[in-house]
Amino acid sequence: MDQPGLATAATQLCGISHPVFQAGMAGIACPELAAAVSETGGLGHLGALRLPPAALARQIAETRALTDRPFGINLVHRGGPAMFEHLLAIAIKARPRAISLFYGDFARVIPRIRAAGIVAMVQVGSVAEARKAVADGADMLIAQGVEAGGHLRGQVGLMALVPAVVDVAGGRPVLAAGAITDPRVVRAALALGAAGVWCGTVFAAARESNAHPAYRQRLVEADTDMPRYRRGLSYGWPWGTPHRAIPGRGGLNPWRLMGGGLRRGDKSALAGRLSLYAGQGVGQIHDSLPAAEIVARLVAGLRTGSDSPPSPQGQEA
Ligand SMILES: Cc1cc2nc3c(=O)[nH]c(=O)nc-3n(C[C@H](O)[C@H](O)[C@H](O)COP(=O)(O)O)c2cc1C
Repeated sequence: MDQPGLATAATQLCGISHPVFQAGMAGIACPELAAAVSETGGLGHLGALRLPPAALARQIAETRALTDRPFGINLVHRGGPAMFEHLLAIAIKARPRAISLFYGDFARVIPRIRAAGIVAMVQVGSVAEARKAVADGADMLIAQGVEAGGHLRGQVGLMALVPAVVDVAGGRPVLAAGAITDPRVVRAALALGAAGVWCGTVFAAARESNAHPAYRQRLVEADTDMPRYRRGLSYGWPWGTPHRAIPGRGGLNPWRLMGGGLRRGDKSALAGRLSLYAGQGVGQIHDSLPAAEIVARLVAGLRTGSDSPPSPQGQEA
C-alpha cells in the first residue's frame, strides 16, 4: 500500500507502518489473511487456538512464504495446559514480531515471550485485568470493549475502557478493540488515547479470511442491532463464556444456541443456523473486500484529519 503511514508507539514497537492490527481469530485468521494485512503495513495475526501444533508450524511457514513483513501469532488459554505449552513453544521458536494472549493467567508466559525478543500483547476487558497484564510485564495491551465480536472478557464499553486502560498502562501502547469497522471509529479510538486498533469482524469479512463465504455474506448483510451479548454455548468453550454473535435463524433450530465461526469447508447450510461471531460494527461492513482495501479505508480515517466523516466502506469510487 502506497499510503504514508502514521507512526504511533504501537507501530514503532511492532516495526509496521499503519496502526491497524488484525485480530487473531481461531479458524478464521489464516496465513492468506495475516500476510495480506502485513503486506499493507498493518500487523496480521494467525489464530492458533485449536490448531494442532503441526498445523501451526505449517501456517507459520505459509505466512512467511507470502510475506517477509512482521506478523503475530495469537494464543488463547484453552485446550489444556499441555496443548497451550506445545503451541507456545512453536510460536516462540518461530520468532514472530508479536504474540498476543487472551483469556488466561499469563504471568509465567510473558517473560518467556519477551526473553525471545517478541512483543508480548495481552487483550484485556477491564481495568483490573489491565493492571494485572502490566504487573505481568506485557509490552502492549489490547482494550476489548463489550461491543467486540467473539469471546468477551469484560462488560465495559470501549469509550470508557480505552482511556481507563491508557491511564494504568504506564506508557505502554494500548490498542482499541470492539466494533471498529469504520474510519470514523478508528479516529475516535485514537482520540481516546489508543495507539492503534485491533479489528476482528471487519477482517473476518475480508476475501482472504478463512470464514465461509456464507458467513462473510451474513456479516455484509447484518446491521448494527443484530450481534447479541450471550452467555450460553459456544463451540469449544466452557458453557457460559460470554461472547457476541449474530443469532442463527429458525426458532426450533438448535444450532442457534451455539456461537461459532463458520470456516471455508464447513457445511453451507450451517451458516444460516449457527450463531455467528460478530461485533457491533457489522453495520458498517457493506462488502467483502480484499484485506488491503480494508486497511486502506481504516488508515484513510487516520489521515483525514478533518471533521468531515469519510464515506462508508465500499461506497467510494
Ligand atoms: C470470528 C472471531 C473469532 C475470534 N477469535 C479470537 C481468538 O481466537 N483469539 C482472540 O484473542 N480473540 C478472538 N476474537 C476476539 C478479537 O480478538 C477481538 O477482541 C474482536 O474481534 C474485536 O471486536 P470486533 O470483532 O468488533 O472487531 C475473535 C473475534 C471474532 C469476531
